[in-house]
Amino acid sequence: MAKRKRKVAAGVGAGRIPVSHPPVSPGLVSSRRGVPAGIERPPYASRPGGEPPAPSSSLVRTPAELDAMRRTGALAAEVLIAACEQVRVGITTDALDRFVHDAALAAGAYPSPLGYRGFPKSVCTSVNEVICHGIPDSRRLAPGDIVNIDVTVYREGVHGDTSVTLMLGDVDEHSRRLVAETRTALYEGIGAVRAGAAVSDIGRAIQSHAFKHSLGVVREFIGHGVGTEFHSGLQVPHYYDRRHSTAIAEGTTFTIEPMLTLGSPEAAIWDDGWTAVTVDGRRTAQFEHTLVCTADGAEILTRTSSGECAHDLFTTPIG
Ligand code: MF3
Ligand code: CO
Ligand code: CO
Repeated sequence: MAKRKRKVAAGVGAGRIPVSHPPVSPGLVSSRRGVPAGIERPPYASRPGGEPPAPSSSLVRTPAELDAMRRTGALAAEVLIAACEQVRVGITTDALDRFVHDAALAAGAYPSPLGYRGFPKSVCTSVNEVICHGIPDSRRLAPGDIVNIDVTVYREGVHGDTSVTLMLGDVDEHSRRLVAETRTALYEGIGAVRAGAAVSDIGRAIQSHAFKHSLGVVREFIGHGVGTEFHSGLQVPHYYDRRHSTAIAEGTTFTIEPMLTLGSPEAAIWDDGWTAVTVDGRRTAQFEHTLVCTADGAEILTRTSSGECAHDLFTTPIG
């Protein structure tokens, strides 16, 4: 039998950096939080299994929908910033979930993850080697951790989806580089957006930045159309795939949310059916915005009305 070719991480030489932290393991998940009847629920919230109807909305928003998305996007940005202000060594991700849940309700919004395809909590919290879709639980954030907080809220019939990766305490040099370059990769992707550009231009820009810094690009999870639906028909890979040659139309709303890795970008899912981790146990970071494509660029919808964003406010380790 021929010798099998060794699988090599996308990042050149990435395999030389050892895994030097204890693996994340599942904690206890608290019971499901309620949502008052006065809060408008997205359609999946009242369907069996939280299964959304097949994507059917237009990829392009009407002017009224776009205005709603500006307001809901700003709310998502505010909730994310407020959640980041809660982060400190020793806080549980469950406490962050309670905070995000309450903040959404206080603003008259539904926390989109809650019940989506059966997801049990109101925010995703993804620590260290968790790529995305981490379920908030009893685990306490520890010095040296990195954690992605992914907030989506639904109000006025539309979703706003945004995430940031924070660092806690004495974070190792490789993780710092990973977080900083993943942030930059998101903005490189945003920079490739304009009406008439190909969807694949986004992935090309992100992948080229990642490879320049010897980082892997996760392929299993991609950006998506977002608007009246949490995940609409549009797919936005963060790697280059020339088959995604469709031109982006002005008024299209979608996310870009690259997940980059220090080692192999290969993913596995925990038995909970959600938590996605790197197979090699090495760290991964993610940043996300909701955008609308304009004639000559992109308008970022997930910033506060004064233009603030967690990506700019939490660039140094906390605590
Ligand atoms: N916010 C995630 C995204 O960026 C989706 C989370 S789905 C959930 O697409 F069910 F895990 F919440
Ligand atoms: Co998203
Ligand atoms: Co998200």
